[in-house]
Amino acid sequence: MDKIVIIGGNELNGSVEISGAKNAVLPVMAATLLAPGEYRISRVPNLRDTRTMIKLLKLIGAEVSFDDGLVTIDTGGCDNPEAPYELVKTMRASFYVLGPLLSRFGYARVSLPGGCAWGPRPVNFHVSAVKALGAETSLEEGYVVAKGEKLYGNTIDFDKSSVGATGNAVMAAVRAEGETVVKNAACEPEIVTLCDFINAMGGQVSGMGSDTIKIRGVESLQAVDFGIIPDRIEAATFLIAGAMIGDTVSVLGVIPDHIAGVIERLNDAGNDITIGTDSVTLKRGERIRPVDVTTSIYPGFPTDVQAQWMALMALADGNATIVDTIYQDRFTHVAELSRLGARIELEGNNARVYGTGQLIGAPVMSTDIRASASLIIAGLAAEGRTDISRVYHIDRGYENIEDKFRALGAEIWRESE
Ligand code: UD1
Repeated sequence: MDKIVIIGGNELNGSVEISGAKNAVLPVMAATLLAPGEYRISRVPNLRDTRTMIKLLKLIGAEVSFDDGLVTIDTGGCDNPEAPYELVKTMRASFYVLGPLLSRFGYARVSLPGGCAWGPRPVNFHVSAVKALGAETSLEEGYVVAKGEKLYGNTIDFDKSSVGATGNAVMAAVRAEGETVVKNAACEPEIVTLCDFINAMGGQVSGMGSDTIKIRGVESLQAVDFGIIPDRIEAATFLIAGAMIGDTVSVLGVIPDHIAGVIERLNDAGNDITIGTDSVTLKRGERIRPVDVTTSIYPGFPTDVQAQWMALMALADGNATIVDTIYQDRFTHVAELSRLGARIELEGNNARVYGTGQLIGAPVMSTDIRASASLIIAGLAAEGRTDISRVYHIDRGYENIEDKFRALGAEIWRESE
């Protein structure tokens, strides 16, 4: 198994090209199952999660190739509408195939994902959405089985905004008879991208980006070529690293609007930020001011940036409170950041971070994708050596992270343990 080694303290300076968004490409790849044909998806990051989705599409019967950011998927030969436990347990987003398989084959058998590092993360909304469209569902040996030769448009009103369930609802509804209205829909840019992709295929989806999405069922869809949006979470991670130990750090190829909430907080923390059309440049402030954040649905502060913000606040000149309202238990990084000298008190989903102005390198362990990112940026800012084990978590969501940080001047490399 690999580990990442960092000798902290080097000032970061320069620019970094941001990869395509993991959370956008995964549902788009699943959506290629909606109609047979050859799709070419560009700006695809080379991640463990995209490779898992490729494995899953191949098991379903697709022919897939992946070369230099371009994934070509031929879904003509698909004949196995199933997602096995072995894959779904390693990546919950595999559950995205439920809606498209049901829409195309009138049948889907998808394993329940099981637990995740930071809590239960149920899929009840996904299941109730396909039920609302007329599918019959059952739980068989740990698998959700959905059947419905014909689906019918309906109103789906989610109790809570869910990115994944919104994506599945839209994909299941795209060929249902009549109109489907998804209320309390997720407004995240990745869902907008999925809807844009479906419309490019000939779907009739409107209202994406708001909390009400309407889908008018269409008879047929066709394969298309499509480009993926930049990864707003990766961009936010590099900017926060810049705020911790940068001189000037620019993220390139981004959509600044997608990270407006994070940029605002970085401004509050005392950094000087310049926003271009597709770039954001951060010049680090003299001192890191403490800034509270509460995560919320888009366009609020993302839960996927909560751990990185905690690393920044560990260095602040004062105390800050971080509340995660999306996930109650997403705090596995607290114990690891504490090993680097952070002082954090956790009460429920409320973390009080006592800024110490200094972190000191230590061996730590990755626990999930974003927790790993917080440990890397903390290690970069810490004095001395940090060894981060279980880096497969980081490889799920960040493309060439150590090369990108090295290009900014960091001393970071990968070793086998
Ligand atoms: C997606 C993102 C993930 C991000 C999360 C929240 C992908 C591949 N992953 O995950 O990086 O952290 O959005 O922005 O895009 N819930 C239920 N029942 C359900 C579904 C969700 O109770 O059936 C709850 C969850 O437990 C959570 C909340 O709804 O509290 C939001 O989760 P959701 O938006 O569904 O997250 P994911 O789509 O799994």
